[in-house]
Amino acid sequence: MAQLQKVAVIGLGYVGLPLAVALAKSQAVTGFDINVERVSELRAGHDRTNELTSDDLKASDLAVTSDPSDIQGCDIYIVAVPTPVDEAKNPDLAAVTGASTLVGDVMAKGAIVVFESTVYPGVTEDVCGPALEAASNLECGKDFYLGYSPERINPGDKVHTVDKITKVVAGQTPEVAEILTKLYGAMNNGDIFVAKSIRAAEAAKVIENSQRDINIAFINEVAMIFDRMGLPVQDVLEAAGTKWNFLKFSPGLVGGHCIGVDPFYLAHAAKAHGHDPEIILAGRRINDGMSAYITERVHELLDNRQSDILVLGLTFKENVPDLRNSQVRSIVDGLAALGHRVQVHDPLADPVEADRHYGITLQKSLSDDYDCIIGAVAHDEYKNITPENLIKPGGLIADLKAIWPDAATSDVCRYWSL
Ligand SMILES: NC(=O)c1ccc[n+]([C@@H]2O[C@H](COP(=O)([O-])OP(=O)(O)OC[C@H]3O[C@@H](n4cnc5c(N)ncnc54)[C@H](O)[C@@H]3O)[C@@H](O)[C@H]2O)c1
Repeated sequence: MAQLQKVAVIGLGYVGLPLAVALAKSQAVTGFDINVERVSELRAGHDRTNELTSDDLKASDLAVTSDPSDIQGCDIYIVAVPTPVDEAKNPDLAAVTGASTLVGDVMAKGAIVVFESTVYPGVTEDVCGPALEAASNLECGKDFYLGYSPERINPGDKVHTVDKITKVVAGQTPEVAEILTKLYGAMNNGDIFVAKSIRAAEAAKVIENSQRDINIAFINEVAMIFDRMGLPVQDVLEAAGTKWNFLKFSPGLVGGHCIGVDPFYLAHAAKAHGHDPEIILAGRRINDGMSAYITERVHELLDNRQSDILVLGLTFKENVPDLRNSQVRSIVDGLAALGHRVQVHDPLADPVEADRHYGITLQKSLSDDYDCIIGAVAHDEYKNITPENLIKPGGLIADLKAIWPDAATSDVCRYWSL
């Protein structure tokens, strides 16, 4: 593709950085982040999200900055900033509106502003467009244009990377959609789907993640039912999974920045339009309740006796350092509140962040005489350990992610799995 655009990517996190580096292979791209520390780490070749290696960064032509004047007058701005929920689980749009104001300040006539952040339908046109107009004194749809392209990457997944997955794009006009098709298509061999509207693209992303949440919630519910019946859910899932149209999901904790958050965006939109989102919120309730369920079950299986417990894994999922919305943290706090002595280990989490955000000191080395170990996150590193070697004879292995199925038949310990 000809170098027809100067592109800026706003927000260099799990989504923005890999995207900016992929786009920079065919395009002049400047990555901007308000976090000065993040920018200097990236300049030094270090990506703390582990999505890119130092070699990836060194080989890239991407320029990174935290100075807004470096992104003045770009042709295309791509915004990939966080969209969390507040305490009341309502959408917190402060970062997208903040980024819109920042872009509005530096953009010139003719710019296209594309949002990649996950939102509910209407945010790009009804919230970001006006914020851009207010900051720029330009008119949306006449002096500048909007686009939306949901990000589908799955951090820690080295197969479905940004250059290998179908990219949905939508533009305020067919011309904008065409420009975005060319821009993104250069990065993923033209694997682009043009959505009918910006709202349809926004809605598509939020239902993709809500659907996952609901499917996991169903499996969590059946895991709790079969647990009460003394029936290992993994045995049930293995048998049911042989049917051609049975959907394969596993029970577990749902944390992180996406699956446990995005359904609240959809629920918010539903309520704003007079619909009570029953399944969506039921799914959220079940998944948010799993840490309490696990805490109670472990306590019960330890005969309510205060014990020495080792928790393996604190991040919100396997093979990533991301600690956001870690549900393991709730289990650690819950067990500590019941009087257990709990130690936590995680090879990927940043010890400083674990301490700062959760007050948890990560263990560097492990002992061999715990009463119980909880396999909470299926980091690859944990697959090779022998859990029986870490606990006292007769101790409990709570294998939340079925990391060590062979331990189920061990005669030196007790085994419980979700
Ligand atoms: N992480 C995922 O798995 C994933 C996958 C698909 C979509 N998404 C969506 O993508 C968006 C970004 O998520 P993420 O995981 O990359 O977040 P992140 O926290 O990893 O990164 C966001 C970056 O934006 C920066 N930032 C915040 N406000 C800013 C502003 N006003 N101007 C410039 N930079 C700003 C932060 O400093 C941070 O570096 C969210 O809407 C998320 O729901 C995330």
